[in-house]
Amino acid sequence: MTFDRSVKIAPSILSADFANFGAECQAIEDQGADWVHVDVMDGHFVPNITFGPATCAAIRPHIKGVMDVHLMIAPVDPYIEAFANAGADIITAHVEAGPHIHRSLQAIRGAGAKAGVALNPGTPAESVEYLLDMVDLICVMTVNPGFGGQKFIHSQVEKVRKLRAMIGDRPIHIEIDGGVTPETAPAVVSAGADVLVAGSAVFKGGSVSNPAPYGENIRAIRAAVKH
Ligand code: DX5
Ligand code: ZN
Repeated sequence: MTFDRSVKIAPSILSADFANFGAECQAIEDQGADWVHVDVMDGHFVPNITFGPATCAAIRPHIKGVMDVHLMIAPVDPYIEAFANAGADIITAHVEAGPHIHRSLQAIRGAGAKAGVALNPGTPAESVEYLLDMVDLICVMTVNPGFGGQKFIHSQVEKVRKLRAMIGDRPIHIEIDGGVTPETAPAVVSAGADVLVAGSAVFKGGSVSNPAPYGENIRAIRAAVKH
């Protein structure tokens, strides 16, 4: 993975057909997705359950590019090795998932993956101030994690701007997760975000047998953020 700040669209398979993940991943990549965003939920850290490392390992061969694994689980540390072995390129843990985010990030890099840190909407930008030299990605949640299809929380744009200033020249991606649409994307990209996760806005209207809408939806987001 080489670093650049060009805008990347990362469809979240939370909005895909759960009985067809392999074909869905191929379809979104064929239709222009840059990364594939994989939402892992445990029914404890967030009020919803998705899947774990075995599913990630099964999906991996169907993804040519970056597999971006977002862990909405607590605890994180006992499972890092399993997600790294499943082939995750990036593993993102939440600041709020436990008292030892610094240790979790060390463990993620130690397992050979890129390390991401996610912030819930109520968590300030400053919470990652002392983590900047050990992360490759900061994920700003623009909804409360747990479900797709929620409304974008506009107060987070200011947080993105603060984080962008804090990051300076460091090679750290700013990822936006939740409620991204062609309407909400421009503000976060202007504020400094470069990775846009989008679930419902990418998968709406399409399916593995009719994947063209995925491409139209991805292009609509891209077009909205081109200056
Ligand atoms: C929310 C997940 C998101 C979600 C985004 O808990 O982390 O990745 O799938 O879905 P949309 O784009 O529909 O808000
Ligand atoms: Zn996510």
